Amino acid sequence: MMEDFSGKTAVITGAASGIGLELAKIFAEQGMNVVLADIEQQRLDEAVAEVAALGVEAIGVVTDVGAGESVAALCKASVDHFGSVQVLCNNAGVYTGGQLWEQTEDDFEWLMRVNQWGIIHGIRHFVPQMIKQSDDCHIVNTSSMASMCTLPFAGIYHMTKHAALALSECLFHELSMMAPQISVSCLCPELVNTGIATSARNRPDELADQNPTEMHAMSMAAITDATANSLHPRALAERVLAAIRNKTFYILPPQDNPWMVTAASRLEDLKLRRNPTFAPPAI
Ligand SMILES: NC(=O)c1ccc[n+]([C@@H]2O[C@H](COP(=O)([O-])OP(=O)(O)OC[C@H]3O[C@@H](n4cnc5c(N)ncnc54)[C@H](O)[C@@H]3O)[C@@H](O)[C@H]2O)c1
Repeated sequence: MMEDFSGKTAVITGAASGIGLELAKIFAEQGMNVVLADIEQQRLDEAVAEVAALGVEAIGVVTDVGAGESVAALCKASVDHFGSVQVLCNNAGVYTGGQLWEQTEDDFEWLMRVNQWGIIHGIRHFVPQMIKQSDDCHIVNTSSMASMCTLPFAGIYHMTKHAALALSECLFHELSMMAPQISVSCLCPELVNTGIATSARNRPDELADQNPTEMHAMSMAAITDATANSLHPRALAERVLAAIRNKTFYILPPQDNPWMVTAASRLEDLKLRRNPTFAPPAI
């Protein structure tokens, strides 16, 4: 169990904003070295300065989590600078919405690259490094409560977050058997007040949105409204820290949270073998 964080090294992807930035700050408060990775250079520089001001050593590495060579370079830069890595947060993620049959191949490609391949590359490059170190390590993959239920007009996001949960559970089983010194958590936030509604600010030009439909606009307006008045990301960072301390796999909202009710409805559908119930969270 990782109790003393001081002097250990945390790598966080998507660390220039939102949940990732709060993770970087809470790790710094524990006296950890912090590697902040993000695709957005300017905000990354500002984030590194903010974290370093907490009195720890922090470095920024511009990284595209959707590209294997970029994540390999992140791992190398982290180890070259700090010698080893004890905590990895595969946190970078993006959102878009709309009707499944109207969304473009590029919509699918973009979300799959960041939300799925980002975690895959993190696992492929950092797990061998952690196994080589043979010390206590912890990997946190950011999924979402969107991995535990399904809602209309956010199908690509739900799909990628289900993949993130499945990858995390499989990784948990494999590491429990093969390298039990490495623990795993899956972070499943409810709505959080971050920059997620403006994810497209970092959408690659080659995957530009060529078909912004009415349903897409409605979906983006809904997520903008819903996240604006939601939880501060600090609360998520606190949950993650506790989960690393206690080796908790599922990092969930409180039991009475509306997203937990929606997730329970899905489990009930399975138990009763009934068709999917439309049970959006009452927020
Ligand atoms: N905000 C919510 O309501 C919410 C709910 C559940 C899950 N999540 C998940 O939390 C994670 C963090 O998102 P957030 O809400 O803090 O949003 P955010 O937009 O504030 O932060 C995401 C960060 O990821 C970075 N990023 C985007 N593409 C990248 C890439 N290819 N490579 C590296 N970095 C990239 C962005 O530049 C940004 O700094 C995501 O995985 C998101 O899906 C968010």
